[in-house]
Amino acid sequence: MVRKLSPEEQPWCIDKETGEPIINKGVQNVCIDKSTICYIDGYHSKLFYRGYSIEDLAKYSNFEETTFLLLNGYLPTKNELEDFKTKIINEREIPDKVIDLLKMIPRDIEPMEMLRTAVSYLGNLDPERHDISRDGFYNKAIRLIAKMPTIVAYFYRIINDKELVHPNDGMNHAENFLYMFLGRDLEEIEKDAIDTAFVLYAEHEMNASAFTTVVIASTAADYYSSIVGGIGALRGPLHGYANVEAMRQFNEIGSVDNVEKWFKEYILTKKKRLMGFGHRVYRSYDPRAKIFRQYAEKLAKMRGGKILEIFKIANKLEEVALSSPLAEKGIYTNTDYWSAIVYGALGVPTDFFCTLFAISRVVGWTAHILEYTENNRIIRPRLFYVGEVEKEYIPIDKRT
Ligand code: CMC
Repeated sequence: MVRKLSPEEQPWCIDKETGEPIINKGVQNVCIDKSTICYIDGYHSKLFYRGYSIEDLAKYSNFEETTFLLLNGYLPTKNELEDFKTKIINEREIPDKVIDLLKMIPRDIEPMEMLRTAVSYLGNLDPERHDISRDGFYNKAIRLIAKMPTIVAYFYRIINDKELVHPNDGMNHAENFLYMFLGRDLEEIEKDAIDTAFVLYAEHEMNASAFTTVVIASTAADYYSSIVGGIGALRGPLHGYANVEAMRQFNEIGSVDNVEKWFKEYILTKKKRLMGFGHRVYRSYDPRAKIFRQYAEKLAKMRGGKILEIFKIANKLEEVALSSPLAEKGIYTNTDYWSAIVYGALGVPTDFFCTLFAISRVVGWTAHILEYTENNRIIRPRLFYVGEVEKEYIPIDKRT
């Protein structure tokens, strides 16, 4: 006999008043905990880390200070910040075994897949990998935050047959990353742009990758497992990889003259997604995108050539999209749209964009893991079962 379940048999899923199942597809608007890390007002383009506006942090703070703020909950004193910076500087170099691994990874792999593998391996080598105390956890986080830029920069240089450029203790975190990556000193505008980018990407509440890290941490698994999971979630084009796809989309459009035709054909007719647009929480212009846009314009004009053409395409495309039915639905520019131009103008190849996102977002992931597990409860949602039950098992040789 085969039967379907009645709603009464899954009472945890049923709204008592309507008798209908309550399904939050995509876990939309479900709060899994209280938090003091980040607040997004998606209707008014507002974002706060630990109560401080993203505009103020982008203007007055820097990646190290913002990292301290996110992990500890308050702005550091001068001494605390110096001490924190020194700790990070001392942890920048990566073990030779990780460098050997980077040399073995296929050169045509997506850099995010390299990062997932390398971070996992780094976890195997961490001296405190079995220490699950909060101090042990914090120390591992500092090590990983310090080492992820080195992994990305070294991989880029290895696959391009360039000499490794080792960390420079005199440089701050973001500048040092781009210096190791490009193999040259940076101009002031470049230092400012990369540091601001790292601040803007450091945290963003309970997004898909943060949730992934917290789900893994809630099982009492180790720190590196959580972060590897976060990298995996970030790699999807609906999330962090959107900055890669946004740049590919600008290139595919090819010219300002083609923007309107392309938008009509691909977005309005074929219903493809405009990459770098739309967000689960924002129904207004992403405040990070506003800041990225200013840097994109400055850098593109300064560089000229191909990246200026791309900036013009992006600018026209945004104008068209913001006066289209997308905007009427609340679909606006998100952070990945303009960060793509900034990264491109800084000389980072498109397929590496998402690794820059991960290098800074590891901070937010860590803050959420620390906060959630302080008073941990395993994350274990339910599904509303609509299949059959009590079916007769038929041996394989009797199946038709
Ligand atoms: N282009 C065209 N249509 C869109 C877009 C878009 N970028 N975003 C949403 N829609 C449409 C969607 O097709 C749906 O239409 P309908 O109601 O007719 O079915 C409606 O808007 C609602 O969309 P949704 O899929 O329910 O929205 P969501 O909250 O589930 O998805 C999103 C959010 C970010 C995945 C989505 O907006 C998207 O795919 N954007 C493009 C990828 C992107 O830029 N991602 C980066 C997000 S910001 C940084 C980050 O988190 O990494």
